[in-house]
Amino acid sequence: MKPIVIGNWKMHLTASEARAFLRDFMAHPAVFERAEVTLCPTGPVIPIVADTLRGTAVRWGGQNAHWETQGAFTGETSMAMLADLGCTLVLCGHSERRRFAHETDADISRKVEQTVAHGMTPVLCVGETYEQRRQQQQDIVVIEQVRKGVDLLAAFPSLSLYVAYEPVWAIGTGQTIESADAMAMARLIRSTLREELPTGADSVPILYGGSVTPLNVASFVDGDSITGVLVGGSSLDPVAFHQLIAQLV
Ligand code: PGA
Repeated sequence: MKPIVIGNWKMHLTASEARAFLRDFMAHPAVFERAEVTLCPTGPVIPIVADTLRGTAVRWGGQNAHWETQGAFTGETSMAMLADLGCTLVLCGHSERRRFAHETDADISRKVEQTVAHGMTPVLCVGETYEQRRQQQQDIVVIEQVRKGVDLLAAFPSLSLYVAYEPVWAIGTGQTIESADAMAMARLIRSTLREELPTGADSVPILYGGSVTPLNVASFVDGDSITGVLVGGSSLDPVAFHQLIAQLV
């Protein structure tokens, strides 16, 4: 299985910055054949990225979308809109959305369901805060987030799902978890998926995220418990992100 690398640009890179990024990033495309690489720009930039990447090995996805197909939801983007632009995946329940947009596990499970219903892959993001880890609550927190996140998936005969374990305290802080601890959490996520999903739990890729860089990425991806990474800061620099991917192939 190819390593999975998802770049989460968050609220960075304007359309013109994205064009400049792609010029440099796509200059040496051979590496993209040996990994599954997806860029997640902010909504208005998706069409620009899509136009450049169409026909290449690199995919694009959304950082978030609403669970309703359409309607009076000012400021929101629907799953149908992302699917129509050719997005292959959607991040669901990123910790920044849980925190700043007050998304609940119930909201996130509807987003996960609707991502699948629109033919895309949800990347269910889970992870404990620093305080929860300090109180040794990380296993309980993550199990609960996984359980609730996949709550509405049983109805789908076959599904595509990724789970990204991102300890909140490691996101954008330069602090990373010991790779053995990340892998232990990935195994816990796997056993939770086996309990929750009628079929397919063993084929769900589990990713790690949180201050991943070209220097540390290889230590997190063992190709067994963890098969890829979700990358924020290091995905904003085309050279660094290309180097990061090259470490895995
Ligand atoms: P980071 O972000 O790589 O900047 O820590 C990861 C993420 O939030 O997905």
